[in-house]
Amino acid sequence: MIQSSSSNGEIGDVMRYLGNKDSILNEINAFIKEVNIPEGSVFFDAFSGTSSVGSFFKEKYQIIANDYLYFSFVYSHAKLNSANVDFKKLNVDPFIEFNRDDIGIVGFITENYSPYNQCKRMYFSVENAKKIDYIRSKIEEWKREQMISDDEYFFLGASLLESISKVANIAGVYGAYLKKWDPRAIKPMTFIQIEHTRSQKCRNVVYNKKLEDIIDDVECDILYLDPPYTKNQYSVQYHLLETIAKYDSPRIKGITGARESIDSTSDWSREGKVEILLDKIVSKTKAKHIILSYSTSGIMSKEYIESVLKRYGKEETLRFKKIPYKKYRNHQTKDEDEHFEYLFYVEKKSEDDVVYTSPLNYMGGKSKMIPFLKRNEPKEYKKFIDIFGGGFNVGINTSCKHVVYNDINFRVKQLIEMFGNVDTFDLYKYILKEIKRYNLTKNNKESYLKARSDYNHPEPPLRDSKLLYVLVLFGFQQQIRFNSSLEFNNPVGESGFNDKIMEKMISFSRRLNEKSIIFHSNDFEFFRDQIDSDTFVYCDPPYLITLGSYNDGKRGFNGWNEKEEKRLLSFLKEIDEKGGKFMLSNVLTHKGRENTLLLEWIKKNNFRVVEFNKESKIRKEIIVLNY
Ligand SMILES: C[S@@+](CC[C@H](N)C(=O)[O-])C[C@H]1O[C@@H](n2cnc3c(N)ncnc32)[C@H](O)[C@@H]1O
Repeated sequence: MIQSSSSNGEIGDVMRYLGNKDSILNEINAFIKEVNIPEGSVFFDAFSGTSSVGSFFKEKYQIIANDYLYFSFVYSHAKLNSANVDFKKLNVDPFIEFNRDDIGIVGFITENYSPYNQCKRMYFSVENAKKIDYIRSKIEEWKREQMISDDEYFFLGASLLESISKVANIAGVYGAYLKKWDPRAIKPMTFIQIEHTRSQKCRNVVYNKKLEDIIDDVECDILYLDPPYTKNQYSVQYHLLETIAKYDSPRIKGITGARESIDSTSDWSREGKVEILLDKIVSKTKAKHIILSYSTSGIMSKEYIESVLKRYGKEETLRFKKIPYKKYRNHQTKDEDEHFEYLFYVEKKSEDDVVYTSPLNYMGGKSKMIPFLKRNEPKEYKKFIDIFGGGFNVGINTSCKHVVYNDINFRVKQLIEMFGNVDTFDLYKYILKEIKRYNLTKNNKESYLKARSDYNHPEPPLRDSKLLYVLVLFGFQQQIRFNSSLEFNNPVGESGFNDKIMEKMISFSRRLNEKSIIFHSNDFEFFRDQIDSDTFVYCDPPYLITLGSYNDGKRGFNGWNEKEEKRLLSFLKEIDEKGGKFMLSNVLTHKGRENTLLLEWIKKNNFRVVEFNKESKIRKEIIVLNY
């Protein structure tokens, strides 16, 4: 039977873990209190590490903990499910047994991580390493012989990890050992027990998975995210704890004896990948409340994080705190850098309220009008055609399964298609590479023209949509303009690639990949035969009485004039006659001009007009509906 403090042992305070949140638990708690989340809710600690957060909340909430490292799984299991740990079946007290002076065997740890025999590694003294091997093998033996329950098995495993951390000859992490013996490391190891509480709300669940692989399935109310924030891999920094927890005699490599397997790297520590993952996690979680811890010196910027939280969360609920936080102290340099920790909270929107935005800053783009357009769409339809698709702000937001994108400008169509065809991380790397290669900066005309010329005259003569996207980003007002020989001819502009654009690109690309979209580059009349009573056609044509650079006829594509307008109106009339539904975006008046053609057509056919921005003095957007 274990007591609260064993005869030889002290109670272990949890080892110092990179990014451990012990010091900001009260701040997290204050965030939660402000939103009044009922007791008994399910709290998902998705990057649980040493489980300090889950452990703190376990009397109030049911906890789900997860970490992709196995030693963390052992910790979490022990700290969250120790209520029934009493070692009744064992005829010894493990905390007495494992503190005997005469225990020790030569095993994997002694042979590889202590100066035993020819080994040069100095993680543990030989005596302590032998003790670790003995204890670890004994725990396994007890489990095999069913002398201990699973909960007891993890409790002993976590206690061993805790005990080890007091005698490891390291400067905080296991990525390297010290070249000289630290006095702590040559003292005999004491087997201490980790915190043992009987007060937990209920049985807690612990996973050992990559969060991105389970996020779709985890039912929870609160999602707490505390991802790694540097390029340092936890699997490298804590390789030895992983090996002791698994005790699987892995193939090891290098001076430090790290595990060889490559399945243990985390994309949360990789620039470009982490941004893609955050988008996925926040969009997919079933939690209503999302709390995120991050560091001011982390890979993702505050702007990026906020853009993601605003896309999927209710903006009015978004809260943010910057907390002074001490970086772990480096034993060698004795440095203690102060840095700051961010804490964000947001309440998630319902899926229907999420608005995706095109990464093309397209002229006349409808991103701001999406909720309005959605409110006015027909109750039922089976096929959606975004017939003047442009930047695809509208089509990307429909919940319809069958979506058709069309734009007469095949370059724009190729661009949009590219976001679905090219892996988003590859696209991200490509953009950075080209920016560097051409030295693209705001207003840097020379570099821009060189890139533009390479796009227009490629060798072999196949133009790359990825390069076109880079040019669009750095071009004047991010316009997509071509000359009559279909060469991209927009001059350099004042913008470039930033975190906000990147967030749009990532969320848009993911959404594009999740939908099945058919791409076309045709005149609108091409769709005549594809329209039936289950079809809903959204039309956002060039506006006859306003000037967009794409409808002056000088851009390599047909212009827009009265003839075109008439052709469109009779096409819409045909849709109506076939029982299909349409929504036409336009303006009826603009700067003293009136679209009489459209006005009369609406009147004649008795179509419905809904105004978007009645109060706007500049541009009064309307939609015309036949339903
Ligand atoms: C900042 S630490 C968490 C610290 C923890 N809150 C604590 O107080 O101890 C980040 C954790 O994320 C884990 N991790 C990294 N990539 C992961 C992934 N893809 N899925 C789940 N966990 C991951 C690391 O193993 C590490 O334990």
